[in-house]
Formats: sequence, structure tokens, C-alpha cells
Amino acid sequence: MYDFVDKEVAKLDLPQRRVRHELFGQMKHPEKLEGYPKGVGNGPFKMTVVIRDDKRVVDCRADETLLVALERAGIAAPNRCRSGECGFCHSRLASGNVYIPPNLDKRRGADLKFGYVHPCCSFPCGDVEINVKVK
Ligand code: FES
Repeated sequence: MYDFVDKEVAKLDLPQRRVRHELFGQMKHPEKLEGYPKGVGNGPFKMTVVIRDDKRVVDCRADETLLVALERAGIAAPNRCRSGECGFCHSRLASGNVYIPPNLDKRRGADLKFGYVHPCCSFPCGDVEINVKVK
């Protein structure tokens, strides 16, 4: 359906940030998506999670988002849409690399400039460290 709708919406010349998509569940097989880096492997990788003064290290896999890995480790990271749209989960990527599917990368300019990612649609490509704001 999106193949059709996206073409029709493009004719309206709307700003891209105004066009939203629903994911309909957890994304699977990021390695099959456009631009996925070669040679990543499936891990497990180490994700160092900094929450205020607390630091934990949890396992994460290349085929799961950072948010899923956080939740699997029992960390209640903020989230709402789980599809990269709302920015509610944004967290600073202190080190490491992640893959973000191009069609889900809805980060604002300030997020890009200061190294923030949306863990709900970011897949680890190795060991990473993120700073998570938990209220
Ligand atoms: S939960 Fe909405 S962008 Fe991550």
C-alpha cells in the first residue's frame, strides 16, 4: 500500500518530516534493507547504557533494535511510536555505529548534529554506548 500512497503523496510536495508511516510491528531482517553495511555479523555485541550516573552493559544483536535490547535487559527506555517517527526515544550515541533504515530516519537536524539516534529503529553494527534519558 505504501508503494502507491508514497507516490501520490510525493505529488503534494509536502515536507518529508510531515509524512509519517506505521511500521505494523517489530522490523525484522535489517540486513536485507537498503544501505545495510557489509560484514556486520550478528553479534552478540555489547551495549553500554548510561542512565544518569548509572552504567550497565547489556547484550544486543544486529537483528534487533537498540530499544528491543534495552527492554530485553529490563530497562524501561522511553518510547511511543516504535517506528522512528515521534523522537520520544531519542538517545545520544556516545560511541559505536548503528544502522538506521533510510526510510525510518526521521531525526531532526539537532539530533543529527549532536549524535542522537532513535533506538526504536537503530540496529547495532558492533559494540555501542548510548545515553538514555529515563524519567
Ligand atoms: S519511539 Fe518514536 S521515534 Fe522512537
